[in-house]
Amino acid sequence: MSFDLVLFGGTGDLAWRKLMPALFQAFRHGSLPPGGRIIGVGRDGLSHDQYRSQIKARFDQVDPGKRPSDDEFTRFAAILEFLRMDLSKPDDYASLAETLRARNADTVVMYVATAPALFTTVCEKLAATGLNTANTRIVLEKPLGHDLASNRAINQAVCQVFGENQVFRIDHYLGKPAVQNLFALRFGNSLFEPLWRREHIANIQITIAEDLGVEKRGNFYETTGALRDMVQNHALQLLCAIGMEPPINAHADAIRDEKLKVLRSLKPWTKESLSQDVVRGQYGAGPPNNGNLLAYKDETGVDPNSKTETFVALRTEISNWRWAGVPFYIRTGKRLAGRDAHIVVNFRPTPHAIFNSKIGEANRLVINLQPRDGLELHLLAQGRDDRKGGRAATQNLAPVQLDLDFDKRFGSERVGAYERLLLDVIEGRLNLFVRSDEQEEAWRWVEPILDYWANDSTGPRTYASGTWGPSASSAMIARDGYCWSEEN
Ligand code: BG6
Repeated sequence: MSFDLVLFGGTGDLAWRKLMPALFQAFRHGSLPPGGRIIGVGRDGLSHDQYRSQIKARFDQVDPGKRPSDDEFTRFAAILEFLRMDLSKPDDYASLAETLRARNADTVVMYVATAPALFTTVCEKLAATGLNTANTRIVLEKPLGHDLASNRAINQAVCQVFGENQVFRIDHYLGKPAVQNLFALRFGNSLFEPLWRREHIANIQITIAEDLGVEKRGNFYETTGALRDMVQNHALQLLCAIGMEPPINAHADAIRDEKLKVLRSLKPWTKESLSQDVVRGQYGAGPPNNGNLLAYKDETGVDPNSKTETFVALRTEISNWRWAGVPFYIRTGKRLAGRDAHIVVNFRPTPHAIFNSKIGEANRLVINLQPRDGLELHLLAQGRDDRKGGRAATQNLAPVQLDLDFDKRFGSERVGAYERLLLDVIEGRLNLFVRSDEQEEAWRWVEPILDYWANDSTGPRTYASGTWGPSASSAMIARDGYCWSEEN
């Protein structure tokens, strides 16, 4: 199957950091279908060779194990081309059409890795040039809008030009092996299914913590914030994967229908829950012994009086028969205590205690997403005998854990998120992409939080870099009698 992959934003940050390295990995692993061509599109007047040289230079910044040798790069470079385009100019789309016609590939992928303001223009101009043929797929990178109305406007513009089944909305978390493992855990095994419900689960905690700050993205982040950047998409997709009903089969729409139902079942916000169940924070400077970490307000591109949140913790519920009353806590932030994404499923305590012990860390399943990918099952076992006065203490329970490390089991060189998603686009698999109705429902649910914050003059709470966020986040969960996993 021959393909042309047109990369709008071909000289942008995403192309350098993620897409080109992922395409190279697919090429190196032999999983990129033969007969492919990658056309980077940008405004600069580069020759094909100049573009290839720029890409080669950028590869010096990726992990050493993922860098091509000279020979590998020469072979990879043979499928790379560059096309200069001003995306607002119809004539430039005519040149694109000509470039594509020359090969007439079986599949054409239009990957729009540009500022979202250009999504609508690109779609309209592709259609006006007749480039929205049945064998064309379009890939859109987040953020798709900044609220429900702007998201809808983009989706409407795109869907006037392409059928929903031609649209691949990327949420790169869905491409992570750990997230696919979550589907495997739930729907490939029957062990946990009978327990996966309100009768047995006390609460579920989803944490996506990053240790880095906003780096060079201050300008972007100022108009985005953690709620739009991480909660509306990545965290809610994880919540869907944890909370959804088993789909009737593994087809894209069967999976997406079930995720949509979860989003529709999220407990609606009230004035009271908005004030009590959502915490926003912003990082302050790091402790002096921890390098020279700037406060968010001092980062380049950030307003010194900024109220943009770099941390969100919230509590919600899925109002359906399986989950009614079970709190789901979501927490994400920058400059936290470490890079750590995991989901903790806390099971209910035994109904009647016959042992004299605290539950502590037991009775929980931890799904590690990154940096490690694995599962930990925390249980109580008979611990070391505590011999006092010659007699063994009767039952001395201690927490133990079963630890499954998927990186060790399957190798940490598994297919990365972008590599997987790019291959899925080329091969037309929609399972790991977000449908427009899912995306709109997620925006509908986060929008009351955005509105509430817009009218709340107190702004985000400051937290010290290198911590787990503002103390209000612990206080929020403590109200239910629980604590975050690291506080156990
Ligand atoms: C992106 C956000 O979608 O995800 C970034 O825009 C964030 O702000 C990134 O850093 C996190 O992704 P990962 O794969 O490093 O966890």
